[in-house]
Formats: sequence, C-alpha cells, structure tokens
Amino acid sequence: MEQKNILLCVTGGIAVYKAAALTSKLVQAGYNVKVMMSPSATKFVTPLTFQALSRNDVYTDTFDEKDSSKIAHIDLGDWPDLIIVAPATANTIGKLANGLGDEMIQATLLAATKPIWIAPAMNVNMYHHPIVQKNMNTLKEIGCKLIEPNEGYLACGYVGKGRLAEPEDITQAVNDYFQNEFGILKGKKIVISAGPTLETIDPVRYLSNRSTGKMGYSLAEVAVSLGAEVVLVSGPTNLTPPEGCKVIKTESAAQMYDAILTEFGNADVVIKTAAVADYTPAVTYDQKMKKSEGDLSIPLKRTKDILLSLGQQKTHQILVGFAAETEQVEDYAKGKLLKKNADMIVANDVTKAGAGFGTETNIVTIYHRNGEVKPLPIMTKKEVAKEILLEVHRLLNEEAR
Ligand code: CTP
Repeated sequence: MEQKNILLCVTGGIAVYKAAALTSKLVQAGYNVKVMMSPSATKFVTPLTFQALSRNDVYTDTFDEKDSSKIAHIDLGDWPDLIIVAPATANTIGKLANGLGDEMIQATLLAATKPIWIAPAMNVNMYHHPIVQKNMNTLKEIGCKLIEPNEGYLACGYVGKGRLAEPEDITQAVNDYFQNEFGILKGKKIVISAGPTLETIDPVRYLSNRSTGKMGYSLAEVAVSLGAEVVLVSGPTNLTPPEGCKVIKTESAAQMYDAILTEFGNADVVIKTAAVADYTPAVTYDQKMKKSEGDLSIPLKRTKDILLSLGQQKTHQILVGFAAETEQVEDYAKGKLLKKNADMIVANDVTKAGAGFGTETNIVTIYHRNGEVKPLPIMTKKEVAKEILLEVHRLLNEEAR
C-alpha cells in the first residue's frame, strides 16, 4: 500500500506527552507524520521531541516559512491523507468551530481539504460545558470525526471524562480507516479509457483533440491502489501508465471501440474518460495529400459512440461516462446519462479555471442515474479519481444487495 501522510496538530494541554507517544506509534505503523504545534503545546514538550520522533520538520509559526516556494499552512492543509488534532483543547475546538485562524494550526485547519479527526483532552467540567459540547457538535456537523476521550484520573486531580484517547487506540483507528479503503475494489475488473483518439487523414496528418489522458491515468492508478484489476485502454499520450494494470494502446476511435468491446464481457465497471472523436475522415489516403489551388474540405463520417454501444449491450456492468462541456453542463450531462444508459456521468465545465484538459486539477459534478447529484470542489485529478471510485464502490455494493 502507498505510504499515507498524516498531519498531527498538537495543542496545549498536559496530554501533549501522549501526542509524542502517538507520533512514535504512527511512525512505527508506517505512516509519514508531520507535526504542527500550537505555542502553548511547546511549553509542555519541545518541538525537538516531535522532530526526532517524526523525523520531519515541526511547524509552530505561520510566519516561519521553511520553503519559500510554498505557503506552509496552505500546503500542509493539502499534503496529508488525514489530519489528527491530538490533544485538542477546548480553545482549539472553539476556534475551529467559529472559523478563527489566528495561529498556524487554526489557519491550516481552515485551509485543509482532507478529513480532520479531533481527539479532545481537557478537564471533565470543561468537556461537559454546553459551549464546548456545542462547538464539538458543530465540528461533527461539518464532517470532523470526534475521537471520544476516555474516563479516568485527570491531571487536574478530577476523575471523569477528558483523558486523551490512548495512542494505541488512535493508531488502531487510523489503521482501520486506511485498511477499509485498501482492497475495496478487490476482485472487480475495471476498464478505463483515457486520452484522445487520433483519426488519420494521410500518413502525416490526423484529427485529434486536447485531451492529455491525466484524468484516466489517475483513475487507473487509484483503482489499482484500491485493489481492482485494471485495464487501461489509452489513446496516444505522453504519460507513463501506472504499474499494476494491463495497458492496451489504441489510436483511432474504431480501435478503441474494438479494444473496449473485447474487455467488456467480464468487466464489472467501465469508465470512459477518453475524449473520443465523433467524426473520422471518410477517406484515409495511403500517400501524403498534395495541396492544390483553392480551399479544401475533408468529408467526415460519424464514428461509433462507444459508450452508447456499451449502454445498449450492458448486462451487469456499471458504466461511467464523462462529459466535458462549455455551456449548459447540467442539461447536457443529464441528457448523456439517459441517452447512453450510463449509471454515472462525471461532468465538468472545461471553461472554468482549474478544470478540463491538461490541468492538474478538476472541478466536477457527478450525476447518478437515480437523480442524485454530487458536486465536488476543486481537487487534484487523483482526488477526483478517488471520489469517483468510492461512488463506483457504493454502486457495486448496492447492486450486490
Ligand atoms: N464517447 C464515446 N464514444 C464516442 C463519443 C463519446 O464513448 N464516439 C463517450 C466519452 O468517452 C464520454 C461520453 O461519451 O464518456 C461523453 O462524451 P462527449 O464527447 O462529452 O459527448 P458526446 O456524446 O460525443 O456529445 P457531444 O460531443 O455532442 O457533446
């Protein structure tokens, strides 16, 4: 399994010493851990302790930029696969629940795009204070996971709820979280088409489009990491196919059609990211065409619509299509869903900054056959791939029931 990145945010309470043990346990479990500390956390244990345990720089100050090419609190919000705040003080919880970003941890949590787990630790009366409870509920509502504190002897002398969950238990929860994802597509064959098609006019000329294949290759990579058997049917691209998948290279829409149809019978899922030509030259010349006086028109004929054919032939397969649009995205996406008998259409407006051909990121909305609509924020293509595959996994499970 690919190594996972964890950002551990340590805020100021006596349980900071347990955060040091948690860092060590996470590192021993194979995670790449970076630690961020609030100023008050550094009063309990020095950053050097966490640096030694994590073998990474420790971040304490929003304005201490260790790498001038990056803005640390934004970068560290994007970098991890999971963010854990442990111990989380009442102050930290209150600030996050109310959108305050006056310290590095707060600013990073506000900028974060990854799951956030909060492990509170505090005096029992603070823990039960209605405002603290309200703030924790707010965090749950916005999608944070709360790791309940334990009951027992508290450093303040009280006995009650407020002890930071044990580092072993937090590490186990992290292992379970990643384990759950790992292998969820095991035993499933997923055919992914990627890149452009290339329609030959003569030995030196062709018709093609701006697709780079990044979205399809990202899907193939993530599908492999989730345990699927992946067949990548790829038009011409400059990308290196991910390890662990079967690759079939194609050029024309007709070749892509044949390759996909050959793999279709025992496939469980087909995801069609390829930008397939709708037209191909009616005649292909064996020799280079010579220019003559006047203008030139090249007659084009329709190619076969691969997704449409799959939709007509499908038995058990889940079909996912893409729709790259420049206007009326929702209408066109829903139209393609019905016309092509797909289960999901992933639509994007290619005119938006950060979406479409050649970019590292994408902004998509997933339209389901049952009418469900899932808009996603701007994400890297790999993150979009993961979201799509989690939706596919959900559909496979529903089908199995
Ligand atoms: N598609 C396909 N075969 C084609 C054309 C498109 O399989 N000959 C698939 C694409 O891979 C994509 C979906 O159909 O998953 C939608 O492609 P798109 O080009 O957006 O739509 P079209 O149906 O071609 O409609 P239009 O070009 O009019 O928008």
